[in-house]
Amino acid sequence: MEVIEIEGGVPLKGTVYISGAKNAALPIMAATLLTEGKSILRNVPELKDVKTKAELLEIIGARVNFIAKNTLEVDTSGPIEPFAPYNLVKQMRASILVLGPLLARRGVARVSLPGGCAIGARPVDLHLRGLERLGAKISLEKGYIVAKASKLTGNEIVLDIPTVTGTENLMMAAALAKGRTVIVNAAREPEVEELARVLNKMGANISGAGTNIIIVEGAKELVPVDHSIIPDRIETGTFIIASAITDGEIIIKNAELSHLAVVVEKLRQSGVVIENRKDGIKVSTDGKLKSVDITTAPYPGFPTDMQAQFMTLMCKAEGRSVVTETVFENRFMHVSELKRMGADIVINGRSAIVTGGRKLQGATVMATDLRASASLVLAGLFAEGITEIRRVYHLDRGYERFVEKLKSLGANIKRRPGEL
Ligand code: UD1
Repeated sequence: MEVIEIEGGVPLKGTVYISGAKNAALPIMAATLLTEGKSILRNVPELKDVKTKAELLEIIGARVNFIAKNTLEVDTSGPIEPFAPYNLVKQMRASILVLGPLLARRGVARVSLPGGCAIGARPVDLHLRGLERLGAKISLEKGYIVAKASKLTGNEIVLDIPTVTGTENLMMAAALAKGRTVIVNAAREPEVEELARVLNKMGANISGAGTNIIIVEGAKELVPVDHSIIPDRIETGTFIIASAITDGEIIIKNAELSHLAVVVEKLRQSGVVIENRKDGIKVSTDGKLKSVDITTAPYPGFPTDMQAQFMTLMCKAEGRSVVTETVFENRFMHVSELKRMGADIVINGRSAIVTGGRKLQGATVMATDLRASASLVLAGLFAEGITEIRRVYHLDRGYERFVEKLKSLGANIKRRPGEL
């Protein structure tokens, strides 16, 4: 098992290229199941989660190959078996995204129910209720969701919570339903908008994506696409913080700052200088960082996927900040590891109170989930001495060549064999 070793204290310098968005690639890969033929997806990050999704699509009957760097061909012309087994769904909850497309294309789908996960219970009840509104009959059999509908029919679906993958699943199912579907209180994330863009390229008729009311006019048939995926906004935010926490100065290319408006605003309030220039996004700092409070919320609010990284930056900023997590109930697992590095953080219910302005000390720490691992890498870049991060497979799920990219910016970081 590999570990990441970092010797902290080097200000990052240079240029970094942002990869395609994981959370856009996963639903778009699932959407190819709505079509018959070869789709080409470009700017696909070569990540563990993408590979898991590819494996799942292959079990279902698609042929999936990287035909060039970051270019994925998905061929769905063969027979499609509407089945997602437990061993893949348990590795990645986003596997649930095949439910809507399989049901719409085959009239039946059997998808393992995802279990709990490290960052909270994460149910899929809203996905299922929405599909029922489209006329599906759903039952639970031996840990599997079994959904049936000879033909889905458009309807109004009101979501209690603007669930991201739920909105995506329903949009995909509705794209091949008979008539009009209106999704109220839809998620507004850029990845939802991107999926709608791809579905429309496939021949769907979707409007309102990016707002909280999405209207889908069902199409008879959808066709394969050639599409290049938007940049990863969470990777972008993570590199901005990597630069700021090391007092570095970097240029970020291939990124879309407008997808990160609240994060950028909060970072600027803290003293990070972020300039959107022709040659990329320039990040630098202007003296000492100040503490800033954040509260996570569905898009366009502060993303829960940036909470852990922001909290690490607040360990450096002078003063006290309150970080409040409202999206997931158990997303403070990085706190105990940061405390082992000397951070002063107190958890009070859904908030963490961070008293910053002190140096962290390198230590051996354990990654617990994807974004928590990123926050530990950031802590290691800032800390005095050597930090060893274990269970780095979490990081490989969502950051493409993270260690290599940080190294190219001058960080003293490497992967090496180590203990689990
Ligand atoms: C997606 C992202 C993930 C991000 C999260 C929140 C992908 C592949 N993953 O996850 O990186 O952290 O959005 O921005 O895009 N909920 C229910 N019932 C449901 C569905 C969700 O109660 O049926 C709750 C969840 O428990 C959670 C909240 O809704 O508290 C938001 O979750 P959701 O938006 O569904 O997250 P994901 O789509 O799983």
